[in-house]
Amino acid sequence: MRIQIINGPNLNLLGIREPEIYGKRAWTDYLKELRQRFPKVRIDYYQSNLEGEIINKIQEVGFDRDGIILNAGAYTHTSIAILDALKSVSTPTVEVHISNVYQREDFRRRSIISPGCVGFIGGFGLDSYRLAIEALIDKAAETQTEG
Ligand code: DQA
Repeated sequence: MRIQIINGPNLNLLGIREPEIYGKRAWTDYLKELRQRFPKVRIDYYQSNLEGEIINKIQEVGFDRDGIILNAGAYTHTSIAILDALKSVSTPTVEVHISNVYQREDFRRRSIISPGCVGFIGGFGLDSYRLAIEALIDKAAETQTEG
């Protein structure tokens, strides 16, 4: 199984950026733990601060991975172009957020990209990514049983 994690703008600063919201843990350390926890899953990682680069990545991986985990950062609330990219590919995407966006400012309560995603996980800190992997593993197993 092969899963692509895509992190959007400012998520390269995890561990430094607003630690009271996003935590103090460095991403590289967490990613290492995720890979150890799911040895049978190949976890690819990509981060970009640029909308177009995120779209290029979705197009590049969106037909041959078993799942995409996308934290689009602030583009979640603004990007029709990312929504269109998600709708253009066949790989299922799980929308992920570290914080509970519904507990925050009004403008974070609307996700433009959700209609392009199979599910949404948010509010569990970095653990949201682990939960998304579990969900994609279950979904792949379901598809295999059905097929
Ligand atoms: C975020 C929530 C967004 O509103 C914000 O712009 C981010 C991070 C999260 O993971 O909680 O950059 O996606």
